[in-house]
Amino acid sequence: MQFETWTKNLADLSTDCVAVGVHEDGELSAEARVLDQRTGQKISRLLKRGDFAGKAGETWLLADLEGIGAERVLLVGLGNKSTDLTRKSWRAAVRAAINAAARTRCSALALALPRPAAKLLTDERLGRAVAEVTGHALYRTNDLKSAKKARPHALTRVVVAAPAKAAQAIQKGFTQGSALSAGATLMRNLANLPGNVCTPSYLGKTAEDLAKSYKSLRVKVLGLPEIKKEKMGCFLAVTQGSEEPPRFLVIEHKHPKAKNAPVVLVGKGITFDTGGISLKDPPTMDEMKFDMSGAACVLGTMKTVAELNLPLNVVALVAACENMPDGRAIKPGDIVTSAAGLTVEILNTDAEGRLVLCDALTYARRFKPDVVIDMATLTGAIVVALGVHHTGVFANDDALARELVDSGLSVDDRAWHMPLTEEYGEQLKSNFADMANVAGRDGGSCTAAAFLAKFTGGLTWAHLDIAGTTYQGGAGKGSTGRPSALLLEYLLRRAAR
Ligand code: BES
Ligand code: MN
Ligand code: ZN
Repeated sequence: MQFETWTKNLADLSTDCVAVGVHEDGELSAEARVLDQRTGQKISRLLKRGDFAGKAGETWLLADLEGIGAERVLLVGLGNKSTDLTRKSWRAAVRAAINAAARTRCSALALALPRPAAKLLTDERLGRAVAEVTGHALYRTNDLKSAKKARPHALTRVVVAAPAKAAQAIQKGFTQGSALSAGATLMRNLANLPGNVCTPSYLGKTAEDLAKSYKSLRVKVLGLPEIKKEKMGCFLAVTQGSEEPPRFLVIEHKHPKAKNAPVVLVGKGITFDTGGISLKDPPTMDEMKFDMSGAACVLGTMKTVAELNLPLNVVALVAACENMPDGRAIKPGDIVTSAAGLTVEILNTDAEGRLVLCDALTYARRFKPDVVIDMATLTGAIVVALGVHHTGVFANDDALARELVDSGLSVDDRAWHMPLTEEYGEQLKSNFADMANVAGRDGGSCTAAAFLAKFTGGLTWAHLDIAGTTYQGGAGKGSTGRPSALLLEYLLRRAAR
């Protein structure tokens, strides 16, 4: 997809389609008025018929209006005018325009929508969001349906009307947004694949393919013997009930200008979580194919980072395996020794994410990282706490937590700072080992984070619990691509400082 800006008069723009905004009361936006005047008030006359209500996200396609350069005019509802345009309604309008244009045979779409005030959305973030929303709206999952596929959309160009002084910053945003979209697409493809296709080896292969495409990336994929050599006893405990071999992925992005210690990203890569011997209930268990979303996000983010060749050192670690019940599987009460040497009593085999992550976090230490951020579909409890709107942020450093929350806020990929005080850690006491892997139902996402915190002493570390935000169930079942946008914003801020 090509993204461009356009500065001249809208009415002269010769294109397949131009999208303009209309409010709920029928009031035309400034851009729509320009077209209306040149067409001899045709648009306002058509609107008087009452076929289009201007509700947020509603669209109406008009064709062959005389006097303007565009072949089609797409009216996009902006909703009620009583309040200033929010970023949320603007995003919804862009999304609606892209979706509507994708249903036509248009190859180019010009967006001439009103924009939120600059203090709400900078030019750079506007460009980034246009490319991000476009990529997101046009994403189609790799389905395995045997029926003939619908004809793909014809869109190849999105043009944004903007004053000349904004063009450069918007262009910069387009580049960021295209890279973000490429990474998020990789993430969503991986997460949407079923567990019998997207195995730990598949994730390893994906990492190796990434390294072949980008000069800045180096990859190492550890198999069972190497994982044993690392003494990752907790990770090994989870994988031992599975026929599918585990993989531990190490991907490094190095930039010659980056002098700082690396940011280490860690992803939970459970390619299917049955719960193990502490077996899950059947309803929606299929959704546990998404239990590698953290790993998928880390891989997608490395693609974005490499595509932009960000002036940072970034390391990605992924612990990938299945969690299966089996004659050789771990049993409740089993005690294992982590790579850090701490012993863990596994009271519930379904709390496997923290087991694979604790060994990955220990592995992270060898990079002497500046910060470590792990991403995991770690607990159902975070969904109870925050619903599907906010990613849970836990950190042993308040400044890092705030930076992540603020990054998410500024790109509409929101997160909420959760408590991680010592009481939660104390709940993990075991009579037989250094700690238990669970602490009862109350505050489940906090005690899970507290388990990880026992392995991150001395590191500046944050944990993102993405169980509620990274995929949707129900009719729209699939990966959302979150929190890719949050992470990119965080990394861009670091690269800029
Ligand atoms: N992968 C699940 C968490 C999860 C639940 C993700 C629902 C997405 C939706 C994780 O491995 C798990 O099973 N956690 C347990 C922990 C419990 C046993 C302490 C949970 O949340 O029930
Ligand atoms: Mn589980
Ligand atoms: Zn899990």
